[in-house]
Amino acid sequence: MITTASELWDENFDWAVEHCGLMQDRRELRAVCHEMRGVRPRRVLEIGSHKGGWIAAVADTCRVGTIYVGVDALDAWKQPRAQVQCRVHWIKTHWLTHKGDYDATLDKVRAILPVVDVLHIDGDHSYRSVRGDWETYAHLVRPGGLVIFHDMMSRRHDGPRRFLDEMRRALKYRAWCDWLCEYFHPPHGMGVAILRRAADDRDTE
Ligand SMILES: C[S@@+](CC[C@H](N)C(=O)[O-])C[C@H]1O[C@@H](n2cnc3c(N)ncnc32)[C@H](O)[C@@H]1O
Repeated sequence: MITTASELWDENFDWAVEHCGLMQDRRELRAVCHEMRGVRPRRVLEIGSHKGGWIAAVADTCRVGTIYVGVDALDAWKQPRAQVQCRVHWIKTHWLTHKGDYDATLDKVRAILPVVDVLHIDGDHSYRSVRGDWETYAHLVRPGGLVIFHDMMSRRHDGPRRFLDEMRRALKYRAWCDWLCEYFHPPHGMGVAILRRAADDRDTE
């Protein structure tokens, strides 16, 4: 029996859901992986890393030797299952606890990753937190790098949607990003937006 790359990806997705509490829609995450492959990241930062399900599921898009930093308000990552996939793909992981002080967490992140290829914002989905996450970490993303927002279409939290709508209207954000796409697969999808940082994003506001 021949196992295709797509079947392997599905198996890995199911494994991450079962063992690492992955909270993503299969088709939306496939789209994210497709875009991440275009970037071939080696420096990945996730806000709201939970039990590491996301990095386990996207690990095969990362280059050998990738450094991953997962930040979470809780010590949920103490479940080490995600490490298995990260080891297979030679990803070095660092797990940080965010205790509410953005400056303190940023200092710790920057000490490991001064520059980021992919930033995944998937922590607290209130408007205030999404905005705080963006303002704290988006400047670390290199030109051509990606920022991924999860839960764009959540019925419970309007933070990501509100923040992205605000970005669309503000010139400085429009200058920051030269490409944006959104994926949404109802009924189970939660919506994901992917923004690419422009090569030249001089502040125009
Ligand atoms: C929806 S879950 C993340 C799911 C994970 N990214 C995935 O794809 O499976 C949200 C996580 O964000 C964490 N969280 C909540 N507030 C946060 C904050 N201010 N900063 C960082 N993480 C936060 C929660 O503890 C929770 O683990």
